[in-house]
Amino acid sequence: DEASWLPSLITATPEEGFELAVKMSRTSVKTIQPDVEVLKKLRPAYAHDPDSLIAATHVVAVNFRTIAEANNYWRD
Ligand code: HEM
Repeated sequence: DEASWLPSLITATPEEGFELAVKMSRTSVKTIQPDVEVLKKLRPAYAHDPDSLIAATHVVAVNFRTIAEANNYWRD
């Protein structure tokens, strides 16, 4: 079996947590639309639309909050 792409929500630093949040968000998009050619075709539309970019950052923010909670806000 190949290694899990998401073995743990625990990260060493908030910055790594944020990178994981982006990865989770992008993986969600690719899970829903696996056709890379379609993703590439639609990329210019989302990349040039402020509302799409704000929506994408919102998805990352929700995932980051979950990861931050899982890491006790890196307080320990
Ligand atoms: C690239 C995030 C939704 C298609 C990227 C990159 C980020 C990102 C950060 C740049 C990666 C890098 O250069 O290292 C997100 C997030 C999304 C989202 C957080 C939504 C939650 C989408 C959607 C599409 C898409 C809806 C297609 C309709 C692509 C493609 C690239 C890309 C094709 C590669 C562009 C290239 O290599 O030039 N995305 N994205 N993404 N995204 Fe998204």
